[in-house]
Amino acid sequence: MKLESLRSLLLEQLQDLYSAEQQITKALPKMIERTSDGGLKSALSEHLDITREQVRRLDHIFDEIRDGDRDGSKCKGMEGLLKEGEEIIKAKGDPETRDAGIIASAQRVEHYEIAGYGCARTYASLLGRRDWAQQLQQTLDEEKEADQKLNQLAERINVEAKAA
Ligand SMILES: [Fe+2]
Ligand SMILES: [Fe+2]
Repeated sequence: MKLESLRSLLLEQLQDLYSAEQQITKALPKMIERTSDGGLKSALSEHLDITREQVRRLDHIFDEIRDGDRDGSKCKGMEGLLKEGEEIIKAKGDPETRDAGIIASAQRVEHYEIAGYGCARTYASLLGRRDWAQQLQQTLDEEKEADQKLNQLAERINVEAKAA
C-alpha cells in the first residue's frame, strides 16, 4: 500500500468499506435466520435492504473515480467481526440470550461502519467533493440510525435473556 495523499487515503478507505458492506450483505441473512425475536428480525431485514443500497452508493462513487477502482481487497476488520458474530449465531442454548448476543455483534458492525464512513466523509469534504461527502453522510446517518434501533431493541431483549 502506498499513501501519497488524502485522496489515496480516501480511496483506500472506500475500498475497505466496499468490502465490508459486501461481507455484511452475505452475513445478515444468516443472522436474520437465527434470530427468534420478530422485532429484531425485521430491523435486521430492513438494514439488509439499506445495506444493498449503500453498496450501490459506493459503486456510484467508484464509477466517478478515474485513477482508482475497487481493488478487490478484503476488509479484515469486518471479516473478524463477522467471524465472531458467526460463533454467536451458531451458539446453542437460550434463544433470547442468543438474540441479545446478535445485537452485540450487529452493534460492533455498525460502530465499525460509523468510524469508516465518518473518516471517508471528512476526507471527501476536505478534497472538495461535496457530492461524495453528502452520499457518505447519508450512509453514516443510516448506520447511526441502525445502531440506535439496536439500542432500543436491546433494552427489551437483554431483559428477556435468561438472567441465570
Ligand atoms: Fe453499511
Ligand atoms: Fe450497517
